[in-house]
Amino acid sequence: MYLKTILSFIFLFAVLSCNRARFNSFRGEALSVDAATLKEGKKAAEKHCSACHLVPQPESMTQVSAHFMLAYMGLFLGVDASRQLDPLEKEQFRNRYELLKRQNKIPVNAMVLPNEWHSLKAWYLASARHPFESSEEAHEASLTEIGIADRGVTLLARLSHGGFAVGGGMSGTLFFLDANLRTIKSIPLDSPPVHLVETPDAYYVLTLGSLLGSLDADARSSIYKVSRQGYQYHKILWDLPRAAHFLIANLNNDNTPDFVVALFGNVVGGGVLACTSQRAKYACNTISERESVVRLAEIKSEKPGEFSFLALAGGAREGLFRIDYKAGVSRKKSLVDYPPHLGSVWLEVVDIDKDGTDEILVLSGDNADQGPYNEVKNDQGLRIYRFANGTLTQKGFESLPGALSLVLLPARDGVSIAVSRFYTDPVRKQDLTLLTHTKGLNFSRKHFTLSVRPTVLATNNQGQLLVGSGNIPIISYNKEGTPLVREFSGPALGLLKIQTP
Ligand code: HEC
Repeated sequence: MYLKTILSFIFLFAVLSCNRARFNSFRGEALSVDAATLKEGKKAAEKHCSACHLVPQPESMTQVSAHFMLAYMGLFLGVDASRQLDPLEKEQFRNRYELLKRQNKIPVNAMVLPNEWHSLKAWYLASARHPFESSEEAHEASLTEIGIADRGVTLLARLSHGGFAVGGGMSGTLFFLDANLRTIKSIPLDSPPVHLVETPDAYYVLTLGSLLGSLDADARSSIYKVSRQGYQYHKILWDLPRAAHFLIANLNNDNTPDFVVALFGNVVGGGVLACTSQRAKYACNTISERESVVRLAEIKSEKPGEFSFLALAGGAREGLFRIDYKAGVSRKKSLVDYPPHLGSVWLEVVDIDKDGTDEILVLSGDNADQGPYNEVKNDQGLRIYRFANGTLTQKGFESLPGALSLVLLPARDGVSIAVSRFYTDPVRKQDLTLLTHTKGLNFSRKHFTLSVRPTVLATNNQGQLLVGSGNIPIISYNKEGTPLVREFSGPALGLLKIQTP
């Protein structure tokens, strides 16, 4: 009797933990939720979805996200799963369909058998999770408008003279502001500026090619050189595949800046380029084919003459990898892989606790590829690593769903961090989070609700935060399954009236 009870508990536990159905229908249609179907579905996902990225667990998404995702991913597998999409989803789906078709990414014949797809869909939709809602409150904070001639900000960089460079995302303009936040120069570029590096004589600026890569597969990026005296500017690199970030390096020892460029691609595509100066020109070579590279960070090299850096990939096969480059030869090492829904966006190498050893910060939260309904994903946020003897060890995690960028706020005993959360919680409205350094790798957290959807951040010399934004409405489902639309009307660029740590 006793043994029987234990055995039935073990059996029950096995059933519950393996193939438990949380839902047995979606949008009014019944799902096959028997254990055999769910088991088949899991197997089919492991077989078909692992070709391009880690296989996401159904528990990492809601039914609405899982359903749109399956329609979208079905395209890559030659399966039309768009039947139950609502009008808003259909519109985004069609847009992705057209882009992938132009890029020849849609196989003519289905790569998955109909019954395999049926089980796979059942596994995702039956085991999806309920919408997540944070229990942490946010405080209202207001912004003082800083006038710029644009409605969206894609770049915000503090310059050594105390002023700022601001990227106007709608018009593709680079604005230079003085320390009093007045525009002193506007430079028209070929597309939105997204990254700027300052050297003693110039600013080097990268353009994104197009704001919405999914609508424009032919977008090309450029790097401009702008002189610090007089702001004369010209393109030094152009016709690059759509790029998101770069590092300046001295790759061929000629003391002319060379560039390592992170290619982001348009849904597919990407890589890392090494562009070395050759008299007045640059020659670019692909040193990694890894898709959707969003950011790079230089690290100390172990060998003389070698340029070492970390690269963060977003998109599908998300993860962090290392490249050591010397004289045209590069060694690559994968450090960590992430599931595709994290939306990796930002990378920093900085000594958070001022103990003499750098930490690696990886931020995720970009939901751009997940469909028209924004979802709060609790496993997005800031991952803190240490890197020693070639291995990466995670030392901390701050959950920050919907994070898009961060700015470091160095203080005497450590580094605090402000995080913009473009894809945030529709109910709690945690648009900006301050992580105030306490001790070791620990922070206290405080959230703020803004009148804008923040994209990028910077600090001024009084420790105040400048907030750049892109005010498109956000549509989400709340815990009860009711759609919520949140509109934003605040300034494209504003100064936040809170004191940072
Ligand atoms: C041929 C390659 C390929 C296959 C096969 C594939 N995917 Fe993807 N997946 C991608 C790409 C590319 C993206 C990034 C899309 C973007 O950035 O718009 C992605 C993104 C995702 C995302 C993230 C979307 C979000 O919500 O942010 C999920 C989840 C996902 N895939 C699940 C799956 C599942 C489940 C399967 C199997 C049914 C699958 N994928 C099969 C290429 C693939």
